[in-house]
Amino acid sequence: MGRKPILAANWKMNMLRAEAGVFCDQLRRQSEGSGGRVSAEHVEVLVFPSFPLLDTVAAGLADGIASVGGQDVHPQASGAHTGDVSAAQLVDAGCTWVLCGHSERRRDHAESDEWIGLKVKAAQDAGLIPLICVGETREERSEGRTLEVLERQVSAALDGASGSFELAYEPVWAIGTGETATPEMAQEAHAFLRRLLGDMLGVERASQVRILYGGSAKPENVDELYAEKDIDGFLVGGASLDSEKFSAMMRSCARSAP
Ligand code: PGA
Repeated sequence: MGRKPILAANWKMNMLRAEAGVFCDQLRRQSEGSGGRVSAEHVEVLVFPSFPLLDTVAAGLADGIASVGGQDVHPQASGAHTGDVSAAQLVDAGCTWVLCGHSERRRDHAESDEWIGLKVKAAQDAGLIPLICVGETREERSEGRTLEVLERQVSAALDGASGSFELAYEPVWAIGTGETATPEMAQEAHAFLRRLLGDMLGVERASQVRILYGGSAKPENVDELYAEKDIDGFLVGGASLDSEKFSAMMRSCARSAP
C-alpha cells in the first residue's frame, strides 16, 4: 500500500478570523469544483492556524475536507505557563494534529531537542498526532553536518514517544526564502530519515510514516519534489495563505497519489 500524501498549511502568525473563514469557504468550493478528485480519499489536508483562529477553522472545515492542528503545545497538562497551550486545550478546540519542533519555535523560543521530545509525548498522550519538524541550518549544511543534525533531532523527538506521528523535513535555509531544496537534496534527506526510522522502529513501521518536505514549497515545484520516492507531501508556509495556490498543490498531490 502506498502512503497517502499529506498537504499541510502552516499559517504561522498570519490571518484574522474573517480571512480564515473565507479561506475555508474557498477551499471547500475548489475541492468540490475538481469533480471530487481532491477528497480525503486521495490527499490528507491539514491546516495549522494560530490559536485564536482554531474555532473558526475547525467550524469552517467541519465537513471533513481538512483536519485542524495547533502550531505548538506545552509538555505539561495544565498550570502556570503564561502564553502556552496544553494538548487537552487543543483537542477541546477541535484539533487532531499539532506541530512539534518547527524551526521558528526552536529559534524564537530556544526550544531544545529534549523539550520537543516532551511535547511529542504530551501530544500523543492526549490523542493528537504530532507532525515533527526537523531540518538543518545553512551553516550546518555547509559544514557537512546535515545528516548528523537530523539524526540528533529525530532521536530526541521520539525518545519516549509511543503513538503515531508523521515527520516534516524542513531545511531551515529554505523556509520563507524562496530557495527550495532540489529534489535530489530533499530525497537524500528523506531516504536517510526513513532508514533512521527503520533502525529505531523497524522497517515495516518506517515504511508507513509520511515524511513531508517543507521550505518554499509552491505550485511550481511540488510535482518534481513529489515524484521522489520518499517525499510524501508538503508542509507549506507562504503559499498556504493563498487558497488558490494551496488548492493547486492539493490537486497535484491527489493527481500523483499512489
Ligand atoms: P515556507 O514555510 O513554505 O514559507 O517556506 C514552510 C514552513 O515553515 O513550514
